[in-house]
Amino acid sequence: MKTFFALAGLLGCAGALAAEPPPAAPFPYFVANCFNCHGTEGNTKSAIPAIAGRERAYLEATLKAFKDGSKQATIMHQLAKGYTDEEIAVLADYFSRQR
Ligand code: HEC
Repeated sequence: MKTFFALAGLLGCAGALAAEPPPAAPFPYFVANCFNCHGTEGNTKSAIPAIAGRERAYLEATLKAFKDGSKQATIMHQLAKGYTDEEIAVLADYFSRQR
């Protein structure tokens, strides 16, 4: 009986967790992939260039150049390949609006 209640408790917990609404996303989910290296909101103070607040057209053109291989990079060309042109436009728009 003890086991049953313990199990029921666990299941109840899991149920509550599953029912939890996802946290409100102020940005498209894939934007967070860039934070690891470029810093949250795209503000880095390291060797990795900051992308926050840069011109939208520059960011979009640069990401597309990484994607088609016309711009040399150590990693960004690999990363950029994972995004559609529409997603790249969203990324450029998002980071251009960060300060
Ligand atoms: C693994 C680390 C890493 C991740 C993740 C990453 N970047 Fe980069 N990014 C770099 C590095 C390093 C450079 C410098 C170019 C190179 O060597 O690849 C760069 C360069 C850039 C540049 C060019 C900046 C300039 O000054 O010309 C842009 C734009 C950019 N990244 C956007 C993004 C976006 C958008 C994402 C998310 C989709 C992202 N990066 C994710 C490491 C990263």
